[in-house]
Amino acid sequence: MRDIFDAIQKSAKRIKEAIDTKDIGYSQLENSSGETQLELDIKCDMIIEEEFSKVASIHTVASEEKEHEEVLHENGKYFIAYDPLDGSSLIDVNLSVGSIFGIYEGAFGTQKMVAACYVVYGPRVEMVFSQNKTKLYLLQAGEFEFVKEIRLNEKGKLMAPGGTQQNWKKYHKAMIDGFFAEGYRLRYSGGMVPDLHQILLKGGGLFSYPATSDKPEGKLRRLFEVFPFAFVFKTSGGEAVDGKDEILTLGHAHIHDTSPCFFGSKYEIDRVKEVYARNA
Ligand code: F6P
Repeated sequence: MRDIFDAIQKSAKRIKEAIDTKDIGYSQLENSSGETQLELDIKCDMIIEEEFSKVASIHTVASEEKEHEEVLHENGKYFIAYDPLDGSSLIDVNLSVGSIFGIYEGAFGTQKMVAACYVVYGPRVEMVFSQNKTKLYLLQAGEFEFVKEIRLNEKGKLMAPGGTQQNWKKYHKAMIDGFFAEGYRLRYSGGMVPDLHQILLKGGGLFSYPATSDKPEGKLRRLFEVFPFAFVFKTSGGEAVDGKDEILTLGHAHIHDTSPCFFGSKYEIDRVKEVYARNA
């Protein structure tokens, strides 16, 4: 696992450089932001694949940018699903983005998950790695330094409600309104990595991306976004559910499957379970 940890750190430094590079960054934004994002997404995907190709313990990788999984080393034992640059459309407006990694032993699937990691590219670059504990690292002078362990409180103060409101179920809207009526504060940038990172570091709260009338299976991808963050939240003393079941008990039929998801501290997730059970 140490070699994977190192490969992610190397990738993160190179991705930060790619984000900052004129040729694939700002220079083309004036012409076509869509093209530029695409270029940056592909570049970041290539960087990670290149670094993972050097790690013999990695058997197979699945990237959010590619249709199919890919075998790297027949004798490796780890399977890694990753989103190279989540929220890349936010680069245009200079908000934070991230890379997400789910690490499995023997095969993809929640029962086989052994670690998860994400990197936030914001004003600073931070990396969060969850195995038995969740640890925060900060990139300083070219090296990642351990900062602290992350633990969630039983109850938080922040609310990140995803999905288009007009497509929310009535009881979902009533639940979110109820949290705000209790004093929760809105924190939603539209980048899953920084939005969840904020909730983790500020002690707790609720991030939700529910089933909506236009997206009955939610928007966020199980392998590339939902499972890794469920692992990070569980390891940090929080909870992750799809409204009914724990995320880490869910299966997946295809690597690009999505799922409704709720990540938070115990208090908020108990409320989600109660509201969703009542309205099932
Ligand atoms: O999956 C990409 C993503 O940008 C996530 O990072 C983010 O949480 C979500 O989509 C935002 O979706 P919406 O724009 O529907 O709120």
